[in-house]
Amino acid sequence: MDVMNQSIVSEFIFLGFTTSWKIQLLLFVFAFLFYSASMMGNLVVVFTVALDSHLHSPMYFLLANLSVIDMVFCSIIVPKMIYGIFKKHKSISFCGCITQIFFSHAAGGTEMVLLITMAFDRYVAICKPLQYLTIMSPRMCLHFLVTSWTIGLIHSLVQLGFVVDLPFCGPNVLDSFYCDLPRLLRLACTNTQELEFMVTVNSGLISVGSFVLLVISYIFILFTVWKHASRGLSKALSTLSAHITVVVFFFGPLMFFYTWPSPTSHLDKYLAIFDAFITPFLNPVIYTFRNKEMNVAMRRLCSRFVHYKNIS
Ligand SMILES: *[C@@H]1O[C@H](CO)[C@@H](O)[C@H](O)[C@H]1NC(C)=O
Repeated sequence: MDVMNQSIVSEFIFLGFTTSWKIQLLLFVFAFLFYSASMMGNLVVVFTVALDSHLHSPMYFLLANLSVIDMVFCSIIVPKMIYGIFKKHKSISFCGCITQIFFSHAAGGTEMVLLITMAFDRYVAICKPLQYLTIMSPRMCLHFLVTSWTIGLIHSLVQLGFVVDLPFCGPNVLDSFYCDLPRLLRLACTNTQELEFMVTVNSGLISVGSFVLLVISYIFILFTVWKHASRGLSKALSTLSAHITVVVFFFGPLMFFYTWPSPTSHLDKYLAIFDAFITPFLNPVIYTFRNKEMNVAMRRLCSRFVHYKNIS
């Protein structure tokens, strides 16, 4: 309630990418295709893992959870953007903006911790195969998941804590296609340098920290694989290269936003496309559809479905 009393800004305006009608049409098609493909791909992953008992193992449960987060993540930003593409006045309400920030940071933070969990899962599977099932027990998996969501939510609540009392007294144009904290802070009618610093530290810490942890764990796994080269080197390498690709796509743009010293460049707006569109789309492609077991499971599921249809 405090927010409403202090602020006279009740909505924010997105500048979007361009005013050219042709490019907007192109963006619309691009956004629509990528969004539908991401949702479909991730849904297929979740259903395949849930319905096929051969895939009831920690690695696939974690993958399915990643897919759920991806669907949440892209649904926070993309539908709103698609809806606004052809509108002259691309507005979002004050609460809508805060909601976008809250959920995108919560889902983003959770995804980071989940990626670390997945790296740990691969570490145990490759480096300690005999203890795999005892270490990655169902209870442990659940612990990891709860921890991921808790860290994501805490991270997001801390971020919101920084803006909730800010006065917004007039400027309300965001040069972006979604609400992000650094740009929002610059609209407040008070000196926000300290806050911007805190936001950068909070997001920078969680993203750079997770990234470093991931890189270290991949180097460690690669080193172990290399030492015992007889044990399925190529399989381990292909799994790891998939993980590393996703990690670079996901963290690259994020670390750029939050640690780049000059916030006035437009580059970050375009880089945000990666996290909003490309990563949620790539995750099922890279992690899953290239995976043999998953392919077999999907085929099995398909034939089961066809069979069922023929009977009924
Ligand atoms: C997420 O992981 C948990 C624990 O491993 C599992 O029980 C659950 O089914 C997973 N969620 C999905 C959507 O697969």
